[in-house]
Amino acid sequence: MHILIVNGPNLNRLGKRETEIYGTTTLPDIESHLKKKFPGQEFEFYQSNSEGAIIDKLQHAADGAFEGVIINPGAYAHYSYAIRDAISALRIPVVEVHLTNVHAREEFRHASVIAPVCKGVIVGFGPMSYELGVRFLVEK
Ligand code: DQA
Repeated sequence: MHILIVNGPNLNRLGKRETEIYGTTTLPDIESHLKKKFPGQEFEFYQSNSEGAIIDKLQHAADGAFEGVIINPGAYAHYSYAIRDAISALRIPVVEVHLTNVHAREEFRHASVIAPVCKGVIVGFGPMSYELGVRFLVEK
């Protein structure tokens, strides 16, 4: 399976950013773990801090380049209707993931405008959130 893993704003700073909240695992650590854990799958990893670039990447996925998408939209989850529309146009399964349990944090993090157009949402399991998302795509 060809799987696109998209990470939104500030996730490039994982491992350095608010480690008491997000831990010390870096994005490259998560990526190499996924490659090791799912050797039969083909991954493309993409991170951007900008909304338009993420939408461009999702549009590329709509053109048939991938069979499934895992997205951690970062804070865009809470307000980006543009990313929601890009996901809504996809005909492949998309899983939203978050490292932290957003429901146990500030109120503005409790809502995701993206969740309703995703197949499912996985929150709160740290780096394992990504692994669980990939497991769904592979085993569904
Ligand atoms: C996050 C949760 C978001 O609320 C936050 O803005 C992030 C990280 C997570 O993975 O826990 O950047 O998406």
